[in-house]
Amino acid sequence: MPLKFLFLFLLVGIVLYFFYRRFATGVTVSTESTENRSETLTDYSSLPGQESGTAPVSPREVISYDLTRYSWGAAPAQAEAEKILRDFLKDVPPPRTISPRLEELLSNPESNVQEIARMVSLDPLLTAQILKVANSAYFRPSGAPRINSVHRAIILLGYNYLRVLLLEYFFRRTLEKCTSLPPQEFLKIWKHSIEVSAILGSIALARRYDVGVYTTAGILHDIGKFFLPLFPSSQEFSFSQGEEDLPPLKEEEIRYGFGHTLLGKLVVKTWDLPPEIEAAVGYHHPVSRLEFLDLPPESRKIAAWVTLADHLAHLYGRFGGDYVYEVPGWVYTFLGLKSPEGLITRELLWGLKRASSLAEAL
Ligand SMILES: [Fe+2]
Ligand SMILES: [Fe+2]
Repeated sequence: MPLKFLFLFLLVGIVLYFFYRRFATGVTVSTESTENRSETLTDYSSLPGQESGTAPVSPREVISYDLTRYSWGAAPAQAEAEKILRDFLKDVPPPRTISPRLEELLSNPESNVQEIARMVSLDPLLTAQILKVANSAYFRPSGAPRINSVHRAIILLGYNYLRVLLLEYFFRRTLEKCTSLPPQEFLKIWKHSIEVSAILGSIALARRYDVGVYTTAGILHDIGKFFLPLFPSSQEFSFSQGEEDLPPLKEEEIRYGFGHTLLGKLVVKTWDLPPEIEAAVGYHHPVSRLEFLDLPPESRKIAAWVTLADHLAHLYGRFGGDYVYEVPGWVYTFLGLKSPEGLITRELLWGLKRASSLAEAL
């Protein structure tokens, strides 16, 4: 008889513990180490509005530019830019990136979290960064127990966001050495890049594309902006000189002879990253249909998705600034979409909110 009571007492205790973990931390606790964490950690409760489907959140009010309305130079300064860039980068070691084994583990939702935690823990600075984000206000609501283990932090973040965090960590170390941008400006572009990377991660996950390549393309898409200050500004440009507000990309072209897309493409080429990433960086603000159609199919696909992800991050993210570039109709046609509305689901916005919070915590 006392044994029965003991068993009942234990059972009630276990049930109460699971309820506490679920509602106090907002995280689903599973005894299986093989689940897809990105999916199981989904919690859309903080987004107001309808039950499913299209998003209830309104876009931010920003200035919208149609880049196809402007005339663009043939980048005569490209050869000179490439030479200056190569000279500059020859003393900068190429960025470290995610190892093939870790990428393999992150790409498989059945992977053992212990092995990932063990690999990540080899780098103390990276470990500290992961724990810092996991303990930030968004990921660890007040009252929830402090996260002290990398294993637990990875479960909380999910594999997709861990990947974004790793890319952020590896590339930022190199980029900080390369740029003379003021820290505030650097961080603003970088945090926007994290948002774009996370959007691309969720698109790639849903469509079974290579998540590693898509998230890398996202984090690097504006990389050219960090290198622009290397080049002399050809003239002092101010908005008052123009008859209308020009898009920032056009302003870059006037100042330097080329924009961040071309410069970013040259950086990625110099670092010998995959051609799809080079295309994504170089063509994420498409201005010519012919140039876009000229890309190889895989490159065109990723460039189109980065164009769209960048557009969504400017409209719905926290760090996109006060403008957005319209997505040309032929990009939608190529992707088989009528407009971005179908893409803006509660899930996507929830993911973007997580990415913004992750960027905020850095
Ligand atoms: Fe851009
Ligand atoms: Fe961007």
